[in-house]
Amino acid sequence: MTTIDTYIDAFFEDTQDTELAIFHDALKQQLAEYYSQRKHGRKPEWDDAIAALPATTALDYSLTQDTVKIGAGDQLNNSNNQQLDAILKAFLPWRKGPFQFFNQHIDTEWRSDWKWNRIRPHITDLKDRQVLDIGCGNGYHLFRMLGEGAAMACGIDPTRLFLYQFHLARHFLPKLPAYILPLRSEHLPAFNQFDTVFSLGVLYHRRSPVDHLTELMSFLRPGGELVIETLVVEGDQNTILVPQDRYAKMANVWFIPSAAALENLISKVGFKNVRTVDVNVTSTEEQRATEWMTFHSLSDFLDPHDPNKTAEGHPAPIRATLVATKADR
Ligand SMILES: C[S@@+](CC[C@H](N)C(=O)[O-])C[C@H]1O[C@@H](n2cnc3c(N)ncnc32)[C@H](O)[C@@H]1O
Repeated sequence: MTTIDTYIDAFFEDTQDTELAIFHDALKQQLAEYYSQRKHGRKPEWDDAIAALPATTALDYSLTQDTVKIGAGDQLNNSNNQQLDAILKAFLPWRKGPFQFFNQHIDTEWRSDWKWNRIRPHITDLKDRQVLDIGCGNGYHLFRMLGEGAAMACGIDPTRLFLYQFHLARHFLPKLPAYILPLRSEHLPAFNQFDTVFSLGVLYHRRSPVDHLTELMSFLRPGGELVIETLVVEGDQNTILVPQDRYAKMANVWFIPSAAALENLISKVGFKNVRTVDVNVTSTEEQRATEWMTFHSLSDFLDPHDPNKTAEGHPAPIRATLVATKADR
């Protein structure tokens, strides 16, 4: 029977003849600890759903358009389409996308394609590169990275729901060199070998931005590229917002620097050629409730009388993308 572990094993099988193999034992130990410490109540139900997926490979797919498309509408018969539809709905809420599974379009909370379209023009061509995406969510951007020609796209994310969503897609594309390991970045070894490391929407969730940046550097090969996207505030290199309570109703936000302060930190950690390539005010068109994510979304997190402020009175979300290089040996 296909389980989530089958898909995780694929990472180890596919990388056994690569330089990542020297880290297999360390990663397997971290995964064993993760599973023993964090039992998930819905695992049996979700494993049954994965096992009930139609046993077919998508004959047609696209990773180069805004919507990640898996399978053509006419490939599955009616009964398989209905079965798949019920399985996709068992994995609500869908936050990152959009995706199309055969004839079912998933209009996710986030237009993650907008983020990708802002980042892509500013990064080194991903063709033939080994990329690592820290905090990859359900892997939407992993698919887009492969669409740009990456040789392998590995994601790290501890949230179990997103791992299952990723594997709903990968089930139909078993040969794709895309993987998610359900770990935290602080539990990874110093790979020192990825060509590009992404950290998109993660820094503000970390208690120590310096530790996070240091980890990211340890994953890169010398000369490799860091791409970091995070919440920022307006200000100079001494401006940092540390919300005492919630930020836009999120409890786990620690550290929101200005882009200039973040450039400063990234340089201080030892990266070269640090630059801010994009700054963007998050709109309620980019993050909103849909039928695939019916809970509150950005419009509920802002001050109803002033969209430039969060519900708590902080500056409303602005996101910046910064790019930097790990020095050559
Ligand atoms: C705001 S989402 C960003 C998802 C995606 N990267 C994007 O930009 O659309 C943050 C993600 O980081 C993950 N995350 C939080 N802490 C993490 C950690 N210490 N290591 C790895 N991932 C983490 C969460 O599970 C979540 O999926």
